[in-house]
Amino acid sequence: MSIKILGTGSALPVRRVMNEEIVRMVDTSDEWIRERTGIGGRHVSVGETAASLAADACSRALEDAGKTAEEVELLLVATCSPDEVAPCTACRVQDRIGAGNAVAFDLNAACAGFLFALHTAWAYVEAGIYQNALIAGSEVLSKLVDWEDRGTCILFGDGAGAVYVEKCQEGGILGFVQHADGKKGGVLAGGGRQLVSPWAGRQDFRRFLQMDGREVFAFAVRQVPLNVEEALSGAGLTVGDVDLFVLHQANRRIIEGVAKRLGAELSRFPMNLEHVGNTSSAAIPLLLDELNRQGRLKRGMRLVLSGFGAGLTCGACVMQW
Ligand code: UT7
Repeated sequence: MSIKILGTGSALPVRRVMNEEIVRMVDTSDEWIRERTGIGGRHVSVGETAASLAADACSRALEDAGKTAEEVELLLVATCSPDEVAPCTACRVQDRIGAGNAVAFDLNAACAGFLFALHTAWAYVEAGIYQNALIAGSEVLSKLVDWEDRGTCILFGDGAGAVYVEKCQEGGILGFVQHADGKKGGVLAGGGRQLVSPWAGRQDFRRFLQMDGREVFAFAVRQVPLNVEEALSGAGLTVGDVDLFVLHQANRRIIEGVAKRLGAELSRFPMNLEHVGNTSSAAIPLLLDELNRQGRLKRGMRLVLSGFGAGLTCGACVMQW
């Protein structure tokens, strides 16, 4: 028994911010950003929220699967940029789309969040608790990014992606791995708030995301191939058996490095970061939705999904579409 993706959806804020606009804000250039990351533009919220984007993506995933919101039993939202601490984004989404019969909660594993949520849904279904799940990755990172820091503001974008999954007897998820290394938490951290209680006085935490880009880069190029191979070997498959590698869209050079280490042609690594940037937990489901709507995903194809991010967290999932 496993779970299979039966529908995908996505949503992006209306406002596009091209590199040329960032060049007017920080000391950088379109050439540098394109060469070092592969990113040409990103979408930035001008009012859209993590909940509104997730709800739109979820509605589209349900429509694609031919299901109604009332049928959903488990609703998970992966996000590290929720609109508010409580209630969770998933409950806001549940209300917006009318998924009144679902249990709903959030999960934060940064850029690996969607994968971890997918694995969580698998575990619930495998345990016989639920038969289906609606899973979104949704981020409005533009509110956590320091728009004066050229090391981070060039990278991130806002958006959401979602999938509807259902219990299946054949195919679906064939194997997965997930890891976390809290000792490396400081490498990519921040987006905190303030302590303002009478006892603490006023203490500021890191307001914006701060990142040691080189460390994250090295971690990703080293760890993603290991995760992919570990997940494939658990499923009794090899790199040669995979049709498409749907990786977290952080940096084109990371994806190229992973492809090289795995000995796989880059043509098997679809990318959309050129127009959406790094959308953290939304990146994998956003790309899946693009591929699905382009008709590039055929039933029976073997896919590997792999993500990594703050935590540090990372994981990989092998599935038969
Ligand atoms: O989603 C998961 C989280 N994040 C990631 O996956 C990010 C992973 N890391 C990266 O994508 C890359 O490390 C970055 C794109 C963030 C940076 O690229 P890099 O090739 O690793 O650059 P670097 O940090 O090694 O910096 C090289 C030079 C430095 O100048 P000096 O010291 O050599 O004079 C930087 O100051 O490039 C400079 N630099 C820039 N120059 C123009 C850094 N950012 C910029 C910029 N424009 N935006």
